[in-house]
Amino acid sequence: MARADGQRTHRVALIEGDGIGPELVAGALAVLEAAQARVGGFRVELERLEGGAGLYRREGRNLSEQSLQTVRESDALLKGPTGLPDVRRPDGTEAGSLGGVLRTGLDVYANVRPVKLLPGVESALKLRPGDVDYVIVRENTEGLYLSRGKGVGNEQAMADTLMVTRTGTERVARFAFDLARKRSGAPSDGVRRVTCVDKSNVLASYAFFRRVFDEVGEEYPDVEKQHLYGDAAAQALVMRPSTFDVLVMENFLGDVLSDLGGGTVGGIGLCPSANAGDGRAYFEPIHGSAPDIAGQDRANPISQILATAMMLDYLGEAEASEAVWRAVWRALETGALRIGANGQPDGGTRRAAQAVAEAVGAA
Ligand code: NAI
Ligand code: MG
Repeated sequence: MARADGQRTHRVALIEGDGIGPELVAGALAVLEAAQARVGGFRVELERLEGGAGLYRREGRNLSEQSLQTVRESDALLKGPTGLPDVRRPDGTEAGSLGGVLRTGLDVYANVRPVKLLPGVESALKLRPGDVDYVIVRENTEGLYLSRGKGVGNEQAMADTLMVTRTGTERVARFAFDLARKRSGAPSDGVRRVTCVDKSNVLASYAFFRRVFDEVGEEYPDVEKQHLYGDAAAQALVMRPSTFDVLVMENFLGDVLSDLGGGTVGGIGLCPSANAGDGRAYFEPIHGSAPDIAGQDRANPISQILATAMMLDYLGEAEASEAVWRAVWRALETGALRIGANGQPDGGTRRAAQAVAEAVGAA
């Protein structure tokens, strides 16, 4: 939106979250400020909202109806991780997770998770920066997690249902193919490729997912299609990650395989994500609230910083987004920012964010 002073203004809702959330968000906001100052021409107006396990503990709900409405009316939402393992609902599931209320509530059906090997990062794999550069597109509104809050059973047995719909699969498959068209292919051969990951050897729901993927794929003759079973994909993401470009899969499979991907590129603390639908989106790290290191200035803020970069791109601020990605790359390359083998930044969270903010300013 343009303002009288000529600046583009973006209204962004902000949920700091639980555990390491507030530390990460503080770091990301320092970088956002540096990007605004460096690139100019736009302003992000933040509206802080409460949500997550802390709020549930106090009020018995993890997000108010009014906050959800504010998110709906905002241009985007920037979110830290939410949830704490000891804050649970009566059915035994976690109360602080906002995945249900936000993903279904906003109908953001594509969870976009770039997995990229950055310079200077100690990867579990012996690869060069850029050798791993793929995106997992995880279906975000159905699959096994549609059963959230709807598990049935008794003291002897419990069951959850894995639901795959035609509409849900068509739209996420299209999203994946459209994304592949905007990218430059897999690092190993430059071929634009979408890999459908499923367990269609075992379950009818996954066979249906594959069939609908194939049908949508016919609309994209310029993009190579590939199929892998989920278990084989887990091995392939470790042994030949450079051959992947875009992967699309059901919700639960995407949840698990994207953390696996993070583990191959220096840790999930380096991995951002977008939850995108038609005209709505929110941005967060792929990981959780890491209660084991919360409040100790040890968490890696890069996931939250890169989630902010993805948000800037979505808001139409491509230059600022690029500036943040470049700054992260440069800070790691020059050693201004070092990530240890345990996935934590040398010198702490605050210092890591500061190093990136300075690299933005120096661009
Ligand atoms: P987690 O992702 O929080 O942590 C797993 C491991 O990775 C821990 O050892 C943690 O210290 C480490 N880690 C995570 N982020 C890191 C970072 N930025 N820098 C350095 N190390 C990092 O997973 P966990 O422990 O299973 O879940 C903790 C809580 O987070 C739970 O309540 C869970 O439900 C919630 N959660 C929330 C998500 C969200 O808000 N989108 C996503 C995943 C989990
Ligand atoms: Mg997860």
